[in-house]
Amino acid sequence: MVGKRRIAACRSVRSLSIHRTHQLISAALATLMICAAVAIAAEQPAGPEPEEEYGEFLARPAELASIPVNDIFKSIRLTAGAMSLGKKVYEKSCAACHGADLKGIPDQHTPDLTDDEWRFSGDDLASGGNVKFPSDVEWTVRYGIRSENPNARGLEADMLAFDPKYRTDDDTKEFGDKAFLTPDEIEDVVEYVLQISGRPADAARAARGDALFHDGSKGNCFDCHGVDGTGYDPIGSTNLTRPDLYLWGSDRASILESIVKGRRGFMPAFEDTLKPEEIKAVSVFVFSHARR
Ligand code: HEC
Ligand code: HEC
Repeated sequence: MVGKRRIAACRSVRSLSIHRTHQLISAALATLMICAAVAIAAEQPAGPEPEEEYGEFLARPAELASIPVNDIFKSIRLTAGAMSLGKKVYEKSCAACHGADLKGIPDQHTPDLTDDEWRFSGDDLASGGNVKFPSDVEWTVRYGIRSENPNARGLEADMLAFDPKYRTDDDTKEFGDKAFLTPDEIEDVVEYVLQISGRPADAARAARGDALFHDGSKGNCFDCHGVDGTGYDPIGSTNLTRPDLYLWGSDRASILESIVKGRRGFMPAFEDTLKPEEIKAVSVFVFSHARR
């Protein structure tokens, strides 16, 4: 109900603007954009968008197809259209795994899409990928993560199983079939991981784990997670110093299981199942919810 009343207020702003000066029109446009965002945020019952919503202030879906997603994001009208379509696409294709509130679902091992932490790098040349754009979300959505798509993210490096009997064929080909760590050494590494993430840990074991973590012929963990354990965005390795960013559980037993059995977070590629305008719209929608 609240959402409906807000939209009614938004409509009167729009009709007013038609009879006023240029300045008023752009002010109204800005308001309209906020209104569009508010309307989207105020959980509207799903249903067909009335046709009159599209056109003058809200780009029609098909218009988005040929425009680069970062250019869509520069335009009030195109963004308003993308937000409207993107919300529907999100609910249909993403919410089951990422949650209606975009905050991730522990059982689905999905990250919070509303924080300013990205598991995967951006593609911005000037900032070396540090400044993120809607095109970075588009990249993930189009190709997926460890999906069948040849351009998928996360194919470069796997969280291999340190117990060779759980190692995938691909990882066995890449890393061999040796147990680089004994079960006792794995427990040392677990204590070190707990320690760097600020939790109580056995100090003597953690000290041994520290050495194994940074030993290229043993754990070799630093190679993928960084010397300080904060992870590398280009390969999507978890920042092990932040328990809130773990996708597979950050308690002692879960960390042990991650190391013993390995982990392979999976997200499908949407290149063949969503239209280009739908991929762009949902990328704008998700990107606008992320903290920057
Ligand atoms: C070849 C690269 C590679 C190596 C070596 C590696 N990791 Fe990982 N690790 C990853 C990647 C990539 C992920 C993210 C997996 C995912 O998203 O499903 C990960 C995930 C994890 C997780 C799960 C975190 C979560 O999100 O819940 C833990 C714990 C972990 N690694 C610890 C270690 C430790 C300890 C070592 C050394 C014994 C190690 N890793 C070695 C690449 C690696
Ligand atoms: C079958 C479940 C599933 C579906 C459906 C799915 N995702 Fe994902 N998504 C995941 C998982 C799992 C990860 C984390 C993979 C990993 O790093 O281990 C992820 C990661 C992401 C990331 C990367 C976040 C970051 O921090 O870099 C984005 C962006 C994303 N998803 C957006 C979407 C959007 C948009 C849709 C809908 C078009 C979608 N996902 C549909 C499972 C899913």
